Amino acid sequence: MIVLLFTIERAEALSTLEGYSGYGPEQGEKPLRTAIASTFYSGLGIEEDDIFVSDGAKCDISRLQMVFGANVTMAVQDPSYPAYVDSSVIMGQTGQFQKDIEKYGKIEYMRCTPENGFFPDLSKVSRTDIIFFCSPNNPTGSAATREQLTRLVQFARDNGSIIVYDSAYAMYMSDDNPRSIFEIPGAKEVALETSSFSKYAGFTGVRLGWTVVPKQLLYSDGFPVVKDFNRVVCTSFNGASNICQAGGRACLSPEGLKAMSEVIGFYKENTNIIMDTFNSLGFNVYGGKNAPYVWVHFPGQSSWDVFSEILEKTHVVTTPGSGFGPGGEGFVRVSAFGHRENVLEACRRFKQLYN
Ligand SMILES: *[C@@H]1O[C@H](CO)[C@@H](O)[C@H](O)[C@H]1NC(C)=O
Ligand SMILES: *[C@@H]1O[C@H](CO)[C@@H](O)[C@H](O)[C@H]1NC(C)=O
Repeated sequence: MIVLLFTIERAEALSTLEGYSGYGPEQGEKPLRTAIASTFYSGLGIEEDDIFVSDGAKCDISRLQMVFGANVTMAVQDPSYPAYVDSSVIMGQTGQFQKDIEKYGKIEYMRCTPENGFFPDLSKVSRTDIIFFCSPNNPTGSAATREQLTRLVQFARDNGSIIVYDSAYAMYMSDDNPRSIFEIPGAKEVALETSSFSKYAGFTGVRLGWTVVPKQLLYSDGFPVVKDFNRVVCTSFNGASNICQAGGRACLSPEGLKAMSEVIGFYKENTNIIMDTFNSLGFNVYGGKNAPYVWVHFPGQSSWDVFSEILEKTHVVTTPGSGFGPGGEGFVRVSAFGHRENVLEACRRFKQLYN
């Protein structure tokens, strides 16, 4: 409601001489940048001018690819959100032939499985320039612990790598894990972080997110990454919609924060219902606790076969795990983003199918 009021007010103001505003700062309006810094990064040494408001994390990932260029090597969690790999491939960071791989580098898949607790064995990970890391993870729903993230930051420091940390699901965290990579000492020198209002405030179609690029993050020649990012943002983007930014500010008001935590609480209840269903049917179920996704294991089966069977027999759409990378084969992701009655009905049908 508060979000609606703020956005309507802002939209109406645009039709008045006093309230009209044209292009805003490409980096986002100052009050929203300040609110993001104080809400999500309080006490972590992140300042308002480290925050870049955007039209969503996915768009920022592509802009980051533009910053890094085609000549870098990348590591991604396997499985992970496909945008990291796809935007790398579009940039040319992969190749079908060995000569392309030699020329353009390659993508390092960091396998995340139940056996390693969904955290990669870093001793087996090759050095890359960039490490994409999403926690809580889409699709596995697993969240890295403080100790694991400390190891990741140390690994990046030892290797001269930059971590692109995706915290789009951090507000779903139930455990006492870090909600931001900047909670880890020394992270500001090796990491930037991207996040979004999509999964906190139902802003998926509204398009509003942000990326934090600390001033302390430097290339090996000492040049600040933020200067390049700022340049790319100002060249390729004219700033997030001013109406959406009014909505973002409303989200970070006391009433807005309360409403967001209620929405998240609702989806967490959905998640519990889905977890309980698959647990009661004897499946190995992962995720769920720190993310709105349940990662269900169907050992020895193809994700697409499981997806098709569920679709044909129950008319419920899940997501085949193999779409998130080779490590997702044999899993399906079940999303908790739905109306309660639909989630209950889907679970009733799962019980009929698998009982
Ligand atoms: C790409 O990387 C290779 C190997 O490090 C280097 O020789 C080459 O100059 C780089 N090309 C560009 C365009 O930076
Ligand atoms: C990367 O970091 C790891 C762990 O700190 C270290 O063992 C490894 O030698 C480093 N690799 C390179 C190429 O520096």
